[in-house]
Amino acid sequence: MKRIVLGVSAGIAAYKSVLLLRLLREAGHHVDVIPTGNVEHFVGNATWEALSGNPVTANVFDAVDTVNHVRLGQQADLVLVVPATADLMARAAAGLANDLLTGTLLATDAPVVMAPAMHTEMWQHPATVANTAVLRQRGVRVIEPAAGRLTGKDSGPGRLPEPQEIFESIQDLLSEPLLAGRKVLITAGGTREPLDPVRFLGNRSSGRQGVALAAAARDAGAQVTLIATHLEVPPPHGVALVHASSALQLREAVFAHAEGQDVLIMNAAVADFRPAAVHNAKIKKRDEHSAPVIELVRNPDILAELVAARESNPRLPAVIVGFAAETGDEQGSVLDYGRAKLSRKGCELLVVNEVGENLTFGTDSNTVQVLFADGKPAVSAAGGKLDVARVVIQQVAGEINGHTTS
Ligand code: CTP
Repeated sequence: MKRIVLGVSAGIAAYKSVLLLRLLREAGHHVDVIPTGNVEHFVGNATWEALSGNPVTANVFDAVDTVNHVRLGQQADLVLVVPATADLMARAAAGLANDLLTGTLLATDAPVVMAPAMHTEMWQHPATVANTAVLRQRGVRVIEPAAGRLTGKDSGPGRLPEPQEIFESIQDLLSEPLLAGRKVLITAGGTREPLDPVRFLGNRSSGRQGVALAAAARDAGAQVTLIATHLEVPPPHGVALVHASSALQLREAVFAHAEGQDVLIMNAAVADFRPAAVHNAKIKKRDEHSAPVIELVRNPDILAELVAARESNPRLPAVIVGFAAETGDEQGSVLDYGRAKLSRKGCELLVVNEVGENLTFGTDSNTVQVLFADGKPAVSAAGGKLDVARVVIQQVAGEINGHTTS
């Protein structure tokens, strides 16, 4: 049995939420419904109260003695917002707390799922697109609206999916969490190798996929530590955060936090080389034509070192996951290079993706293949980075649950 907050914002699709409430109750969950003020134009509180079996209010100033606006969010195992209107999403993205539902969204550490429903123009408006991106980056699962007949004569994307479909799409959050009691260490972002006080060698990694992995692992019940190297996106709620900048600092942070973890996911793009010398002062142009020659030296391979150190230290993670950002060429495909890398690195799983200027980096979508060292067939995943992260975390859970807890 889960404690679920079912937020309902004021759209005509609120009637479908009544059916979702029934499905949740029939499955044995405790549900507190929080409508926004205008929902009563569509569905009255009597319906929500009768079907949930709990008192219902949209007002922060009702039941003040129980401090509802933080209590419901704090106690929840899961917060659903069905339907999520453009207005509700904008307020949630801005962090407003001007009613009981938005207050609850700010007060919760539980996974949040939003099912948008609105007219196509509103769904495709840059403001809503930006708000959706912000919410997704923060780890909110925003269900893609269905396309079809909307209220009135128009049709297009913006329709609330059927209650049964929404119910099925959140089964992973309703069942026992896959990584309950597990500790997961994730590196995300891209390292910067200093050259002088103002310059560095960096890479295109934004950290979006690593942040999505941290959110997915958290949603799967894990205790997550995220080592962030120059993220372009905010880290998710509810994870412990550690910062590192260069590959050497990242290596130090990984070794400092790896003991006692069940899983290490090396998603950070680690520079293979760093400048041999870091200048104390800014490198100057000496004359009209000269340009400095920068000598590079190899960085340690953190992943391979961790795998090697595990030989003599059983407290290091039983499951180590590498990422391979590959580009295919005449000598081999992306997958050929991935398989070779998996055996070279000695980790349990390798997530392979194809990269390039307009592929993967900085975008919200990804296509990957998860390769297994034990020879299991590869599993592919495509979609938003959170969708991909969920598939990777499922595979990681399958792997770690085959091991006994350390
Ligand atoms: N990695 C690491 N330390 C490094 C380089 C990479 O731990 N110095 C990790 C990355 O976090 C990733 C995996 O190794 O999980 C693969 O990284 P990638 O750069 O794609 O592979 P390389 O080993 O650098 O191989 P190559 O550059 O030859 O493709």
